[in-house]
Amino acid sequence: MTVVVQAGNLRQVYRIRRGIFREPAQLQAVGGVSFAIEAGKTLAVVGESGCGKSTLARMVSLIEKPTGGTLTLDGSDAVNTPAADRRRLRQAVQLVFQNPYGSLNPRKKVSALLEDPLAINTSLGKAERRERALAMLAQVGLRPEYANRYPHMFSGGQRQRIAIARALMLNPKLLVADEPVSALDVSIQAQVLNLLSDLQDEFKLAYLFISHDLAVVKYIAHEVLVMYLGHVMEQGPKEKIFARPCHPYTQALLASTPGVGPRNVRRIVLKGELPTPLDPPSGCVFSSRCPYAVDRCRAERPLPVPVDGRIAACHFAGQFLESGFPEVRAPDNVSLSG
Ligand SMILES: Nc1ncnc2c1ncn2[C@@H]1O[C@H](COP(=O)(O)OP(=O)(O)OP(=O)(O)O)[C@@H](O)[C@H]1O
Ligand SMILES: [Mg+2]
Repeated sequence: MTVVVQAGNLRQVYRIRRGIFREPAQLQAVGGVSFAIEAGKTLAVVGESGCGKSTLARMVSLIEKPTGGTLTLDGSDAVNTPAADRRRLRQAVQLVFQNPYGSLNPRKKVSALLEDPLAINTSLGKAERRERALAMLAQVGLRPEYANRYPHMFSGGQRQRIAIARALMLNPKLLVADEPVSALDVSIQAQVLNLLSDLQDEFKLAYLFISHDLAVVKYIAHEVLVMYLGHVMEQGPKEKIFARPCHPYTQALLASTPGVGPRNVRRIVLKGELPTPLDPPSGCVFSSRCPYAVDRCRAERPLPVPVDGRIAACHFAGQFLESGFPEVRAPDNVSLSG
């Protein structure tokens, strides 16, 4: 299988200004994420608000240069791209956002929205561009007469279909979708997810799919990457992760979404509030909210290591996998030998 995109230890650190007399603070939004996505496959990234999902999406779609790490797209270096490859790489990856209304120019008809990328990037004539735009409209399940309408004349689901059609006009290899169905009604979500899945099969597209909704992830993903405060907690094949998570954070997420995790899933209630990435907990970044955290967790950051066909960053992942998650007790009483 062809690997379309490969990320190695991707990092993004923002400098936050704090007034003229203070040093800028460093905010690590993404702290070292690695993955590969093959043609025709979907990697879904999940995690709470602020964990770095959109930052990752911006790096992978070449909008933002990473602070560190490597990114290879369609066989070429996408961080320090040779000038000769830049145009090709920009076309190889396209983005779809949560809010299609914001990403579609309201003053342009659908025909122009779809034809513009071809006019700018190819030498196709007017008639050919129109033909391709109409063919793509049909691909995304919209009628040809819609070509003459403006974005505001469509429903949310239809607008997202237009945004997807536009993203596909230049035959990308990778589609980065940042919460593409989160703003839609549940029934419409299913239709758009089906469409994405059909298009993936037809064009052998790789998807980086960002969502906070595990039901959506369960439907669309092949591989899953669970993030917390910019770090990978657990990562691997969807079946493994949904059937038997081995990181307490994954378990907590699964338990909070009815019907997606294993039966009789132990409910883990997260303690306290989400910390700020400006001042992350020492050791394991999840330790301040993990009901199983012991001194070692607060002292020593667990590295992501292979556990049963997936990767987990938890000192006790092996134990959780073997014996499940124990009943949650007061943190001081928890005895876990590491
Ligand atoms: N341009 C920026 N400058 C400074 N900080 C930023 C910037 N972009 C994002 N951040 C910070 O980086 C962290 C990750 O943000 P990001 O938008 O990637 O999270 P997210 O997982 O997409 O969240 P959400 O689910 O709310 O969309 C947050 O703490 C955010 O405040
Ligand atoms: Mg986001």
